[in-house]
Amino acid sequence: MSNPIISNKQQILNRVCEITESDDSSFEEKLQEICHLLADEIPVFDWVGFYLVDPEANRELVLGPYVGEPTEHTRIPFGKGICGQAAETNKTFVIQDVNKADNYLACSIYVKAEIVIPVKKEGKFVAELDIDSHTKDSLTKEHQRMLEDACETIAKLF
Ligand code: SME
Repeated sequence: MSNPIISNKQQILNRVCEITESDDSSFEEKLQEICHLLADEIPVFDWVGFYLVDPEANRELVLGPYVGEPTEHTRIPFGKGICGQAAETNKTFVIQDVNKADNYLACSIYVKAEIVIPVKKEGKFVAELDIDSHTKDSLTKEHQRMLEDACETIAKLF
């Protein structure tokens, strides 16, 4: 019997490839479409967005396209919050209960879990995919693998 989670994962990854390779949309539109795809397809993904390295600033992230409630955290220095730590270390962060995290920047009282995946261009940190969930303990290894695969494809846009 086929595994519905795996096939769904493959469909999502195929769609990320199609979006990145499209000739009909801009860089921003592609990132925006990927945010919509992930937020629509995975029910526990309540906020999906990209933070990009600001080339004009010193080790600072700037908010890019996103889906979900507006956030006050439109600029985040490297090292600050979960996003800044992912930028600093160039590693994925998975937080199953944000109330237990120190060095966390709260966006809304509803957010309970968060995953941040670096986008690496030839190994160098260029951006990150940030996902918030309103459900504690909801982020699986399967989500992580799928999102890391997606970010490898997304890296081709940079
Ligand atoms: N919670 C993040 C801040 C960004 S919002 O989730 C959109 C952090 O701790 O870095």
